[in-house]
Amino acid sequence: MKGILLAGGSGTRLYPMARGISKHLMPIYDKPMVYYPLATLMGAGINEILIITTAEDRAAFERLLGDGAQFGCRFEYAVQAQPNGIAEAFVVGEEFIGDDAVALILGDNLFYGDDFGGVARPDGGVVFAYPVADARRYGVVEFDAGQQVLGIEEKPVEPRSNFAVVGLYFYDNDVVEIAKALTPSPRGEVEITDVNREYLRRGKLRAEKVAQGAVWLDTGTIESLADASDFVRVLENRTGLKVGCVEEVAWRQGFISDDDLRLLAEPLRNSGYGEYLLALLDRPSMVRR
Ligand code: DAU
Repeated sequence: MKGILLAGGSGTRLYPMARGISKHLMPIYDKPMVYYPLATLMGAGINEILIITTAEDRAAFERLLGDGAQFGCRFEYAVQAQPNGIAEAFVVGEEFIGDDAVALILGDNLFYGDDFGGVARPDGGVVFAYPVADARRYGVVEFDAGQQVLGIEEKPVEPRSNFAVVGLYFYDNDVVEIAKALTPSPRGEVEITDVNREYLRRGKLRAEKVAQGAVWLDTGTIESLADASDFVRVLENRTGLKVGCVEEVAWRQGFISDDDLRLLAEPLRNSGYGEYLLALLDRPSMVRR
């Protein structure tokens, strides 16, 4: 299964901050935002990942993440010329996807406490739902009494449920053909919700609830960015364990060896981040659960 991390877009909701730098490279407490969705994909066992950025920001992402070999992964890069919509990721990524299944994660989504490891090569599409206070900002999924999907709507004025569709999607290879056939919505974007509606129409959409107690945050506004930083700071300081630590995830997934982790840690020692990675090796009792 391949992975796509979508980190383009204009970030206008974070202006003036995101004017000179992609919002996905901004800090969420102690690491760049993109680390969190990247760690989620890797934590689901995916190590071939296409990172889609704007043309201006591509070099900065490559400087940060390289070709992925240091994490036992293979990263490729591609440019989305304009923010034409989330579903365009599958058109930009067509060649990379080839005839494989694919997971898409949005570059401003942060997950904690659910490893999404169970979705291997779906037959159709799999989306995840999470209860939110204000569903009008999201794709919204409505379930029947048997937890079957009744419908999905993008940013409804009057949501039919309080369950938002999170920015992590798993699809079979049909997604490329489905995305290519889409026409832009009234707001001028090819919508991921329209991809999901097409899978629903075909009777091939499954919606699962994010694990009980797990946390999903999106970080596209000033307030939510600050909330996410607070969340990570409190959790990391309380538990002594990092969230969204791609080096640790690569090591726990067996993508890299102890020696590889030591090499990654060395240049990161001044910030304390490297010390954390070395402690993982030196204190085998430091387990996550
Ligand atoms: O976060 C989950 C929500 O994400 C879903 O519930 C919605 O169904 C989905 O449409 C999306 O809504 P947003 O309005 O939050 O999407 P936004 O435009 O903020 O973009 C989300 C991420 O995708 C962000 O990191 C920028 C990136 N992006 C977005 C678009 C439209 C791109 O890279 N290219 C694009 O063309």
